[in-house]
Amino acid sequence: MRGARTFKPRRRGLGSARQRTFDALKPVWSFDEEGDVLEPLVYFEECNRVCVEIGSGNGSLASSFARSHRTTGLISVDVHRPGIARLLDDIGEFELMNLRVVEGDALVFLERLPTASIDELWVFFPDPWPKNSQAHRRLISADRLPALARSIRPGGYLRMATDVDSYAEQTRRLVEGSDLFDEVVAERPEWRIETAFEARGRMAGRSATDLRCRRRH
Ligand SMILES: C[S@@+](CC[C@H](N)C(=O)[O-])C[C@H]1O[C@@H](n2cnc3c(N)ncnc32)[C@H](O)[C@@H]1O
Repeated sequence: MRGARTFKPRRRGLGSARQRTFDALKPVWSFDEEGDVLEPLVYFEECNRVCVEIGSGNGSLASSFARSHRTTGLISVDVHRPGIARLLDDIGEFELMNLRVVEGDALVFLERLPTASIDELWVFFPDPWPKNSQAHRRLISADRLPALARSIRPGGYLRMATDVDSYAEQTRRLVEGSDLFDEVVAERPEWRIETAFEARGRMAGRSATDLRCRRRH
């Protein structure tokens, strides 16, 4: 379900030098948000699994993960251009052949992926949309769960993290009540580094909950 946007439109542009690099690298290392069906493993010759990250923000987790997991393909999606530009720079600098980016709405991009074609889908620190009037914008919702689950292979994982307790509880309830998943475990993966976003929450006294939800066979 596309429906209301799950992100806040941001208009931060790039400086002219950065924009030139971005324009040169993007056609090589990104996938378009919309287009034909895309079989992800085909693009990652050295990899035996593929993960998709929705909302890569400034790109710090994607860059760190891709450097330390060279045989996992990672597709990082965000609408935030400076973060996508940073990841394109890192692909060049660290030769991250296992990383691709998508600048756009992940809910649109997911429609390009075949059913059961990825191992994990990550949603780390989704925009919290705390007001009742904004609740329909939350990325993980009853309406959007089937679209999020579809491309995950049976036995694969939807991973989420949030420091908004009501969002963690809502996700757990949704997933436990859905026949798309058969297990929910509170587990922080050891590779999930603290992002600047998470650090700001921690300094404000909030702690994160991680959930690992297994796709039903
Ligand atoms: C609160 S930030 C967290 C970023 C990052 N995961 C972190 O921990 O620092 C949420 C990010 O999700 C992105 N986002 C929200 N909905 C999205 C969507 N439908 N497609 C792509 N990105 C989205 C926003 O643009 C934003 O960068």
